[in-house]
Amino acid sequence: MPPVNTYLAPGEGETVFTVSATPIKFGVGALRELGADASSLGMKRVALFVDDHVLGTEVGEDALASLRAAGLDAVVYDHVRCEPDSDSFAAAAAFARDGAFDGFVSLGGGSVIDTAKAANLLSTWPDDLLAYINAPIGQAKPIPGKLKPHIACPTTCGTGSETTGITIVDLKSVGLKTGIASPLLKPSLALIDPRTTESLPGGVVAATGFDVLTHAVESYTARPYTSRAKPAHPSQRPPYQGSTPYNDIGSLHAIRLGGRYLARAVRDAGDTEARHQLMFASTLAGLAFGSAGVHIPHAMSYSVATLKHVFGAPGYEDRERMVPHGIAVVINAPAAFRFTAQANPARHLEAAAALGADVNGAAPGDAGEILSRAFIDLMRETGLPSGIAALGYGEEDVPALAQGAFAQQRPLVMAPRSVSLQDLEALYRDAMRYW
Ligand SMILES: NC(=O)c1ccc[n+]([C@@H]2O[C@H](COP(=O)([O-])OP(=O)(O)OC[C@H]3O[C@@H](n4cnc5c(N)ncnc54)[C@H](O)[C@@H]3O)[C@@H](O)[C@H]2O)c1
Ligand SMILES: [Fe+2]
Repeated sequence: MPPVNTYLAPGEGETVFTVSATPIKFGVGALRELGADASSLGMKRVALFVDDHVLGTEVGEDALASLRAAGLDAVVYDHVRCEPDSDSFAAAAAFARDGAFDGFVSLGGGSVIDTAKAANLLSTWPDDLLAYINAPIGQAKPIPGKLKPHIACPTTCGTGSETTGITIVDLKSVGLKTGIASPLLKPSLALIDPRTTESLPGGVVAATGFDVLTHAVESYTARPYTSRAKPAHPSQRPPYQGSTPYNDIGSLHAIRLGGRYLARAVRDAGDTEARHQLMFASTLAGLAFGSAGVHIPHAMSYSVATLKHVFGAPGYEDRERMVPHGIAVVINAPAAFRFTAQANPARHLEAAAALGADVNGAAPGDAGEILSRAFIDLMRETGLPSGIAALGYGEEDVPALAQGAFAQQRPLVMAPRSVSLQDLEALYRDAMRYW
Protein backbone atom coordinates (compact mmCIF):
# COMPACT_ATOMS: atom_id res chain seq x y z
CA MET A 1 0.00 0.00 0.00
CA PRO A 2 1.42 3.40 -0.90
CA PRO A 3 1.54 5.59 2.21
CA VAL A 4 -1.41 7.88 2.72
CA ASN A 5 0.54 11.06 2.09
CA THR A 6 0.80 10.20 -1.62
CA TYR A 7 -2.68 11.75 -1.86
CA LEU A 8 -2.38 14.79 -4.09
CA ALA A 9 -5.04 17.23 -3.05
CA PRO A 10 -6.71 19.11 -5.92
CA GLY A 11 -5.36 22.64 -6.02
CA GLU A 12 -5.49 25.63 -8.30
CA GLY A 13 -4.10 23.75 -11.27
CA GLU A 14 -4.65 20.39 -12.93
CA THR A 15 -7.16 18.08 -11.26
CA VAL A 16 -7.22 15.21 -13.77
CA PHE A 17 -4.70 12.52 -14.67
CA THR A 18 -4.86 9.87 -17.37
CA VAL A 19 -3.59 6.30 -17.82
CA SER A 20 -2.87 5.13 -21.33
CA ALA A 21 -0.77 2.03 -20.78
CA THR A 22 0.66 -0.29 -23.40
CA PRO A 23 -0.96 -3.76 -23.20
CA ILE A 24 1.31 -6.14 -21.29
CA LYS A 25 1.84 -9.88 -21.29
CA PHE A 26 4.24 -10.98 -18.56
CA GLY A 27 5.50 -14.35 -17.41
CA VAL A 28 7.74 -17.34 -17.84
CA GLY A 29 7.05 -18.89 -21.26
CA ALA A 30 5.38 -15.75 -22.66
CA LEU A 31 7.75 -15.76 -25.64
CA ARG A 32 6.27 -19.07 -26.79
CA GLU A 33 3.06 -17.10 -27.46
CA LEU A 34 4.81 -14.53 -29.64
CA GLY A 35 3.67 -16.05 -32.96
CA ALA A 36 0.03 -16.15 -31.90
CA ASP A 37 0.19 -12.54 -30.73
CA ALA A 38 1.89 -11.36 -33.92
CA SER A 39 -0.79 -13.11 -36.02
CA SER A 40 -3.61 -11.58 -34.03
CA LEU A 41 -2.10 -8.13 -34.70
CA GLY A 42 -2.35 -8.93 -38.42
CA MET A 43 1.36 -9.51 -39.06
CA LYS A 44 2.41 -11.79 -41.90
CA ARG A 45 5.87 -10.58 -42.87
CA VAL A 46 7.80 -9.61 -39.76
CA ALA A 47 11.02 -7.66 -39.21
CA LEU A 48 12.57 -9.38 -36.19
CA PHE A 49 15.07 -7.02 -34.53
CA VAL A 50 17.10 -9.15 -32.16
CA ASP A 51 20.10 -8.59 -29.87
CA ASP A 52 23.11 -10.55 -31.13
CA HIS A 53 23.70 -12.00 -27.63
CA VAL A 54 20.12 -13.23 -27.42
CA LEU A 55 19.79 -14.75 -30.90
CA GLY A 56 21.48 -18.05 -29.98
CA THR A 57 19.91 -18.46 -26.53
CA GLU A 58 16.97 -20.71 -25.69
CA VAL A 59 14.57 -17.77 -25.48
CA GLY A 60 15.80 -16.43 -28.83
CA GLU A 61 15.11 -19.80 -30.41
CA ASP A 62 11.70 -19.98 -28.70
CA ALA A 63 10.77 -16.62 -30.18
CA LEU A 64 11.81 -17.51 -33.71
CA ALA A 65 10.18 -20.96 -33.49
CA SER A 66 6.95 -19.41 -32.24
CA LEU A 67 6.82 -16.93 -35.15
CA ARG A 68 7.52 -19.67 -37.70
CA ALA A 69 5.02 -22.11 -36.11
CA ALA A 70 2.37 -19.42 -36.59
CA GLY A 71 3.21 -19.38 -40.31
CA LEU A 72 4.87 -15.96 -40.26
CA ASP A 73 7.68 -14.93 -42.55
CA ALA A 74 10.22 -13.52 -40.05
CA VAL A 75 13.39 -11.83 -41.32
CA VAL A 76 16.12 -11.42 -38.69
CA TYR A 77 18.03 -8.13 -38.22
CA ASP A 78 20.84 -8.47 -35.67
CA HIS A 79 23.08 -5.49 -36.53
CA VAL A 80 21.72 -3.24 -33.82
CA ARG A 81 24.33 -1.05 -32.16
CA CYS A 82 24.50 -1.22 -28.36
CA GLU A 83 23.34 2.33 -27.41
CA PRO A 84 22.27 3.20 -30.97
CA ASP A 85 23.47 6.23 -32.92
CA SER A 86 22.07 8.04 -35.95
CA ASP A 87 24.08 5.81 -38.34
CA SER A 88 22.77 2.58 -36.83
CA PHE A 89 19.21 3.99 -36.91
CA ALA A 90 19.68 4.83 -40.61
CA ALA A 91 20.90 1.29 -41.41
CA ALA A 92 17.95 -0.25 -39.55
CA ALA A 93 15.50 2.07 -41.35
CA ALA A 94 16.93 1.04 -44.73
CA PHE A 95 16.46 -2.63 -43.79
CA ALA A 96 12.86 -1.93 -42.80
CA ARG A 97 12.11 0.06 -45.97
CA ASP A 98 13.61 -2.56 -48.30
CA GLY A 99 11.88 -5.48 -46.55
CA ALA A 100 8.28 -4.31 -47.04
CA PHE A 101 7.25 -5.64 -43.63
CA ASP A 102 3.78 -5.42 -42.15
CA GLY A 103 4.92 -5.71 -38.57
CA PHE A 104 7.89 -5.43 -36.19
CA VAL A 105 9.11 -7.58 -33.33
CA SER A 106 12.00 -6.49 -31.12
CA LEU A 107 13.78 -8.92 -28.82
CA GLY A 108 16.56 -7.26 -26.87
CA GLY A 109 17.34 -4.45 -24.46
CA GLY A 110 16.50 -0.80 -24.92
CA SER A 111 19.01 -0.59 -27.77
CA VAL A 112 17.10 -3.13 -29.87
CA ILE A 113 13.60 -1.95 -28.92
CA ASP A 114 14.46 1.70 -29.63
CA THR A 115 16.02 0.75 -32.98
CA ALA A 116 12.86 -1.14 -33.99
CA LYS A 117 10.71 1.87 -33.01
CA ALA A 118 12.85 4.16 -35.16
CA ALA A 119 12.92 1.73 -38.10
CA ASN A 120 9.14 1.41 -37.92
CA LEU A 121 8.72 5.20 -37.90
CA LEU A 122 11.28 5.98 -40.62
CA SER A 123 9.99 3.25 -42.96
CA THR A 124 6.29 3.98 -42.40
CA TRP A 125 6.56 7.79 -42.54
CA PRO A 126 9.92 8.45 -44.24
CA ASP A 127 11.65 11.71 -43.31
CA ASP A 128 14.97 12.90 -41.91
CA LEU A 129 15.61 11.60 -38.42
CA LEU A 130 16.15 15.22 -37.29
CA ALA A 131 12.64 16.14 -38.39
CA TYR A 132 11.20 13.93 -35.63
CA ILE A 133 13.85 14.57 -32.93
CA ASN A 134 12.77 16.59 -29.88
CA ALA A 135 13.09 20.36 -30.16
CA PRO A 136 15.26 22.42 -29.89
CA ILE A 137 17.80 19.93 -31.26
CA GLY A 138 15.39 18.60 -33.90
CA GLN A 139 12.16 19.91 -35.36
CA ALA A 140 9.81 17.75 -33.22
CA LYS A 141 7.56 17.16 -36.22
CA PRO A 142 4.43 15.28 -35.11
CA ILE A 143 4.29 11.71 -36.43
CA PRO A 144 1.66 11.91 -39.22
CA GLY A 145 -0.28 8.75 -38.32
CA LYS A 146 -0.24 5.23 -36.95
CA LEU A 147 2.84 3.04 -37.23
CA LYS A 148 2.88 -0.68 -38.08
CA PRO A 149 2.22 -3.07 -35.19
CA HIS A 150 5.24 -3.68 -32.97
CA ILE A 151 5.65 -6.33 -30.26
CA ALA A 152 8.51 -5.39 -27.93
CA CYS A 153 10.12 -8.17 -25.89
CA PRO A 154 12.72 -6.85 -23.45
CA THR A 155 15.76 -8.93 -22.53
CA THR A 156 17.32 -6.54 -20.01
CA CYS A 157 15.76 -5.61 -16.67
CA GLY A 158 16.22 -1.97 -17.48
CA THR A 159 14.81 0.65 -19.75
CA GLY A 160 11.11 -0.17 -19.78
CA SER A 161 11.22 0.87 -23.47
CA GLU A 162 8.68 -1.90 -24.20
CA THR A 163 5.96 0.33 -22.74
CA THR A 164 7.19 3.84 -23.56
CA GLY A 165 6.63 6.18 -26.50
CA ILE A 166 10.31 7.14 -26.56
CA THR A 167 13.33 6.21 -28.65
CA ILE A 168 16.81 7.44 -27.70
CA VAL A 169 19.69 8.01 -30.10
CA ASP A 170 23.22 9.38 -30.05
CA LEU A 171 22.99 12.08 -32.73
CA LYS A 172 26.39 12.09 -34.34
CA SER A 173 25.92 15.42 -36.13
CA VAL A 174 25.46 17.29 -32.82
CA GLY A 175 27.35 14.93 -30.50
CA LEU A 176 24.39 14.62 -28.13
CA LYS A 177 22.06 11.87 -26.98
CA THR A 178 18.45 12.82 -27.40
CA GLY A 179 15.26 11.23 -28.62
CA ILE A 180 11.86 11.18 -30.22
CA ALA A 181 8.80 11.15 -27.98
CA SER A 182 5.29 10.38 -29.19
CA PRO A 183 2.48 8.15 -27.95
CA LEU A 184 2.46 6.69 -31.49
CA LEU A 185 5.86 5.10 -30.78
CA LYS A 186 4.42 2.97 -28.00
CA PRO A 187 4.63 -0.71 -28.92
CA SER A 188 1.31 -2.45 -29.62
CA LEU A 189 2.18 -5.10 -27.03
CA ALA A 190 4.92 -5.45 -24.41
CA LEU A 191 5.63 -9.17 -24.19
CA ILE A 192 7.90 -9.86 -21.24
CA ASP A 193 9.36 -13.28 -20.54
CA PRO A 194 11.60 -12.92 -17.48
CA ARG A 195 13.64 -15.95 -18.57
CA THR A 196 15.47 -13.52 -20.89
CA THR A 197 17.33 -12.14 -17.85
CA GLU A 198 19.02 -15.47 -17.10
CA SER A 199 21.78 -15.04 -19.71
CA LEU A 200 22.63 -11.44 -18.73
CA PRO A 201 26.16 -10.76 -17.46
CA GLY A 202 26.09 -9.46 -13.84
CA GLY A 203 27.51 -6.10 -14.96
CA VAL A 204 24.60 -5.58 -17.38
CA VAL A 205 22.11 -6.46 -14.61
CA ALA A 206 23.79 -3.83 -12.40
CA ALA A 207 23.70 -1.11 -15.06
CA THR A 208 20.16 -1.82 -16.24
CA GLY A 209 18.83 -2.50 -12.72
CA PHE A 210 19.95 0.96 -11.62
CA ASP A 211 18.15 2.41 -14.65
CA VAL A 212 14.99 0.81 -13.18
CA LEU A 213 15.62 2.22 -9.72
CA THR A 214 16.26 5.73 -10.97
CA HIS A 215 13.18 5.62 -13.25
CA ALA A 216 11.13 4.65 -10.21
CA VAL A 217 12.58 7.18 -7.75
CA GLU A 218 12.52 10.00 -10.32
CA SER A 219 8.87 9.25 -11.18
CA TYR A 220 7.98 9.09 -7.50
CA THR A 221 9.69 12.41 -6.74
CA ALA A 222 8.69 14.20 -9.97
CA ARG A 223 6.60 17.32 -9.51
CA PRO A 224 2.95 16.34 -8.95
CA TYR A 225 0.49 16.55 -11.82
CA THR A 226 -1.55 18.97 -9.67
CA SER A 227 1.27 21.53 -9.89
CA ARG A 228 0.64 22.09 -13.63
CA ALA A 229 -1.92 24.51 -15.01
CA LYS A 230 -5.16 22.92 -16.23
CA PRO A 231 -4.98 22.62 -20.05
CA ALA A 232 -7.36 24.73 -22.12
CA HIS A 233 -8.31 21.55 -24.03
CA PRO A 234 -7.84 17.90 -23.00
CA SER A 235 -5.66 17.28 -26.08
CA GLN A 236 -3.09 19.72 -24.65
CA ARG A 237 -2.46 17.59 -21.56
CA PRO A 238 1.28 16.75 -21.78
CA PRO A 239 2.46 13.12 -22.17
CA TYR A 240 4.56 13.57 -19.00
CA GLN A 241 2.01 14.40 -16.36
CA GLY A 242 4.21 14.33 -13.26
CA SER A 243 3.65 12.02 -10.33
CA THR A 244 0.08 10.76 -10.08
CA PRO A 245 -1.56 8.37 -7.62
CA TYR A 246 -1.52 5.72 -10.36
CA ASN A 247 2.17 6.16 -11.25
CA ASP A 248 3.06 6.14 -7.55
CA ILE A 249 1.86 2.55 -7.16
CA GLY A 250 4.24 1.18 -9.80
CA SER A 251 7.13 3.45 -8.81
CA LEU A 252 7.03 2.56 -5.15
CA HIS A 253 6.68 -1.15 -5.77
CA ALA A 254 9.53 -1.09 -8.31
CA ILE A 255 11.73 0.62 -5.70
CA ARG A 256 10.86 -2.10 -3.17
CA LEU A 257 11.64 -4.87 -5.65
CA GLY A 258 14.92 -3.21 -6.65
CA GLY A 259 15.93 -2.76 -3.01
CA ARG A 260 15.23 -6.39 -2.27
CA TYR A 261 16.55 -8.08 -5.41
CA LEU A 262 19.08 -5.93 -7.30
CA ALA A 263 22.24 -7.04 -5.46
CA ARG A 264 21.17 -10.69 -5.53
CA ALA A 265 20.40 -10.53 -9.25
CA VAL A 266 23.83 -9.01 -9.99
CA ARG A 267 25.74 -11.49 -7.83
CA ASP A 268 24.18 -14.73 -8.97
CA ALA A 269 22.97 -15.50 -12.51
CA GLY A 270 21.33 -18.64 -11.09
CA ASP A 271 19.10 -16.61 -8.73
CA THR A 272 16.10 -16.70 -11.04
CA GLU A 273 13.75 -15.34 -8.37
CA ALA A 274 15.84 -12.16 -8.07
CA ARG A 275 16.26 -11.72 -11.83
CA HIS A 276 12.59 -12.39 -12.64
CA GLN A 277 11.44 -10.01 -9.92
CA LEU A 278 13.79 -7.33 -11.21
CA MET A 279 12.24 -7.75 -14.66
CA PHE A 280 8.82 -7.09 -13.16
CA ALA A 281 10.24 -4.00 -11.44
CA SER A 282 11.54 -2.84 -14.82
CA THR A 283 8.09 -3.08 -16.40
CA LEU A 284 6.40 -1.31 -13.47
CA ALA A 285 8.97 1.48 -13.50
CA GLY A 286 8.67 1.81 -17.27
CA LEU A 287 4.92 2.29 -17.02
CA ALA A 288 5.37 4.85 -14.27
CA PHE A 289 8.09 6.99 -15.83
CA GLY A 290 6.54 6.76 -19.30
CA SER A 291 3.57 8.62 -17.84
CA ALA A 292 5.08 10.64 -14.96
CA GLY A 293 8.40 11.55 -16.60
CA VAL A 294 11.91 11.45 -15.19
CA HIS A 295 13.98 14.42 -14.08
CA ILE A 296 17.49 15.44 -12.98
CA PRO A 297 19.49 12.16 -12.99
CA HIS A 298 18.28 11.39 -16.54
CA ALA A 299 18.77 14.98 -17.74
CA MET A 300 22.36 14.84 -16.43
CA SER A 301 23.00 11.40 -17.95
CA TYR A 302 23.06 12.43 -21.60
CA SER A 303 26.21 14.53 -21.39
CA VAL A 304 27.88 11.93 -19.13
CA ALA A 305 27.16 9.34 -21.83
CA THR A 306 28.30 11.40 -24.80
CA LEU A 307 31.26 13.61 -23.82
CA LYS A 308 33.76 10.82 -23.06
CA HIS A 309 34.02 7.25 -24.22
CA VAL A 310 36.87 5.90 -22.12
CA PHE A 311 35.04 3.77 -19.58
CA GLY A 312 34.96 0.00 -19.93
CA ALA A 313 31.96 -1.30 -17.98
CA PRO A 314 31.98 -4.88 -16.64
CA GLY A 315 29.64 -7.04 -18.73
CA TYR A 316 30.14 -4.83 -21.81
CA GLU A 317 33.68 -6.02 -22.66
CA ASP A 318 32.88 -6.86 -26.29
CA ARG A 319 31.29 -3.45 -26.94
CA GLU A 320 32.99 -0.17 -27.76
CA ARG A 321 34.01 1.81 -24.70
CA MET A 322 31.12 3.94 -23.44
CA VAL A 323 29.11 4.65 -20.32
CA PRO A 324 26.04 2.36 -20.36
CA HIS A 325 22.79 4.26 -19.92
CA GLY A 326 21.97 2.94 -16.43
CA ILE A 327 25.42 3.89 -15.11
CA ALA A 328 25.29 7.32 -16.81
CA VAL A 329 22.02 7.91 -14.95
CA VAL A 330 22.57 6.49 -11.46
CA ILE A 331 25.97 8.12 -11.15
CA ASN A 332 24.06 11.45 -10.79
CA ALA A 333 21.32 10.10 -8.54
CA PRO A 334 22.89 10.58 -5.08
CA ALA A 335 23.81 14.20 -5.88
CA ALA A 336 20.44 14.90 -7.52
CA PHE A 337 18.32 13.52 -4.67
CA ARG A 338 20.35 15.46 -2.10
CA PHE A 339 19.36 18.54 -4.10
CA THR A 340 15.67 17.70 -4.67
CA ALA A 341 14.80 16.35 -1.19
CA GLN A 342 13.93 19.76 0.28
CA ALA A 343 11.07 20.06 -2.25
CA ASN A 344 9.33 17.00 -0.78
CA PRO A 345 11.19 15.34 2.08
CA ALA A 346 8.35 12.88 2.81
CA ARG A 347 8.50 11.33 -0.64
CA HIS A 348 12.29 11.10 -0.55
CA LEU A 349 12.08 9.33 2.81
CA GLU A 350 9.41 6.95 1.51
CA ALA A 351 11.62 6.09 -1.45
CA ALA A 352 14.58 5.48 0.89
CA ALA A 353 12.45 3.24 3.10
CA ALA A 354 11.24 1.29 0.07
CA LEU A 355 14.89 0.78 -0.90
CA GLY A 356 15.46 -0.74 2.51
CA ALA A 357 16.99 2.21 4.40
CA ASP A 358 16.22 2.74 8.08
CA VAL A 359 14.20 5.97 8.27
CA ASN A 360 13.04 5.62 11.86
CA GLY A 361 13.24 8.96 13.61
CA ALA A 362 14.50 10.72 10.49
CA ALA A 363 13.83 14.44 10.31
CA PRO A 364 12.71 16.03 7.01
CA GLY A 365 16.14 17.64 6.73
CA ASP A 366 17.78 14.19 6.67
CA ALA A 367 15.77 12.93 3.68
CA GLY A 368 18.25 13.79 0.93
CA GLU A 369 21.23 12.33 2.73
CA ILE A 370 19.38 9.11 3.66
CA LEU A 371 18.15 8.46 0.12
CA SER A 372 21.58 9.28 -1.37
CA ARG A 373 23.28 6.98 1.09
CA ALA A 374 20.88 4.13 0.18
CA PHE A 375 21.88 4.55 -3.48
CA ILE A 376 25.60 4.82 -2.68
CA ASP A 377 25.56 1.67 -0.52
CA LEU A 378 23.85 -0.33 -3.28
CA MET A 379 26.20 1.09 -5.93
CA ARG A 380 29.25 0.02 -3.90
CA GLU A 381 27.79 -3.41 -3.24
CA THR A 382 27.18 -4.03 -6.94
CA GLY A 383 30.56 -2.85 -8.25
CA LEU A 384 29.55 0.48 -9.80
CA PRO A 385 32.07 3.28 -10.41
CA SER A 386 32.49 5.69 -7.47
CA GLY A 387 31.49 8.82 -9.38
CA ILE A 388 31.97 10.60 -12.68
CA ALA A 389 35.74 10.93 -12.03
CA ALA A 390 35.95 7.16 -12.51
CA LEU A 391 34.38 7.67 -15.97
CA GLY A 392 37.19 10.04 -16.98
CA TYR A 393 35.67 13.40 -15.98
CA GLY A 394 37.37 16.16 -14.01
CA GLU A 395 36.69 19.70 -12.82
CA GLU A 396 37.60 21.04 -16.30
CA ASP A 397 34.65 19.11 -17.81
CA VAL A 398 32.01 20.53 -15.45
CA PRO A 399 30.93 23.51 -17.64
CA ALA A 400 30.40 21.31 -20.72
CA LEU A 401 28.61 18.61 -18.72
CA ALA A 402 26.28 21.23 -17.23
CA GLN A 403 25.61 22.90 -20.59
CA GLY A 404 24.63 19.51 -22.06
CA ALA A 405 22.30 18.78 -19.16
CA PHE A 406 20.75 22.26 -19.20
CA ALA A 407 19.73 21.67 -22.83
CA GLN A 408 17.54 18.75 -21.62
CA GLN A 409 14.65 20.95 -20.51
CA ARG A 410 12.04 18.26 -21.23
CA PRO A 411 13.09 16.17 -18.19
CA LEU A 412 14.37 19.13 -16.15
CA VAL A 413 10.92 20.73 -15.97
CA MET A 414 9.65 17.59 -14.24
CA ALA A 415 12.04 18.10 -11.30
CA PRO A 416 10.34 18.97 -8.02
CA ARG A 417 12.38 22.20 -7.78
CA SER A 418 13.75 24.40 -10.53
CA VAL A 419 17.31 23.79 -11.66
CA SER A 420 19.71 26.44 -12.99
CA LEU A 421 22.91 26.00 -14.97
CA GLN A 422 24.87 26.80 -11.80
CA ASP A 423 22.90 24.16 -9.88
CA LEU A 424 23.86 21.59 -12.51
CA GLU A 425 27.53 22.53 -12.21
CA ALA A 426 27.32 22.03 -8.45
CA LEU A 427 25.55 18.68 -8.94
CA TYR A 428 28.31 17.38 -11.26
CA ARG A 429 30.92 18.45 -8.69
CA ASP A 430 29.00 16.54 -6.02
CA ALA A 431 28.81 13.51 -8.34
CA MET A 432 32.59 13.49 -8.95
CA ARG A 433 33.43 10.95 -6.21
CA TYR A 434 31.05 9.41 -3.67
CA TRP A 435 33.52 7.14 -1.87
N1 LIG B 1 13.05 4.12 -24.97
C1 LIG B 1 13.12 4.31 -23.68
O1 LIG B 1 12.13 4.53 -23.01
C2 LIG B 1 14.47 4.23 -23.03
C3 LIG B 1 14.57 4.45 -21.66
C4 LIG B 1 15.83 4.36 -21.09
C5 LIG B 1 16.94 4.05 -21.87
N2 LIG B 1 16.82 3.87 -23.22
C6 LIG B 1 17.96 3.53 -24.10
O2 LIG B 1 18.15 2.12 -24.11
C7 LIG B 1 19.52 1.82 -24.39
C8 LIG B 1 20.08 0.88 -23.34
O3 LIG B 1 19.34 -0.31 -23.28
P1 LIG B 1 19.61 -1.42 -22.16
O4 LIG B 1 20.13 -0.77 -20.94
O5 LIG B 1 18.37 -2.22 -22.06
O6 LIG B 1 20.80 -2.27 -22.71
P2 LIG B 1 21.24 -2.72 -24.20
O7 LIG B 1 20.07 -3.04 -25.02
O8 LIG B 1 22.19 -1.69 -24.69
O9 LIG B 1 22.03 -4.07 -23.87
C9 LIG B 1 23.16 -4.03 -23.00
C10 LIG B 1 24.09 -5.21 -23.27
O10 LIG B 1 23.45 -6.42 -22.83
C11 LIG B 1 23.43 -7.38 -23.88
N3 LIG B 1 22.21 -8.18 -23.68
C12 LIG B 1 20.93 -7.73 -23.78
N4 LIG B 1 20.08 -8.71 -23.41
C13 LIG B 1 20.83 -9.80 -23.12
C14 LIG B 1 20.53 -11.11 -22.65
N5 LIG B 1 19.26 -11.48 -22.37
N6 LIG B 1 21.54 -11.97 -22.44
C15 LIG B 1 22.84 -11.58 -22.65
N7 LIG B 1 23.19 -10.35 -23.05
C16 LIG B 1 22.20 -9.47 -23.29
C17 LIG B 1 23.47 -6.57 -25.16
O11 LIG B 1 23.99 -7.33 -26.22
C18 LIG B 1 24.41 -5.43 -24.74
O12 LIG B 1 25.76 -5.82 -24.85
C19 LIG B 1 20.25 3.15 -24.40
O13 LIG B 1 20.43 3.57 -25.74
C20 LIG B 1 19.29 4.06 -23.66
O14 LIG B 1 19.47 5.43 -23.98
C21 LIG B 1 15.59 3.92 -23.79
FE1 LIG C 1 16.60 5.32 -18.21
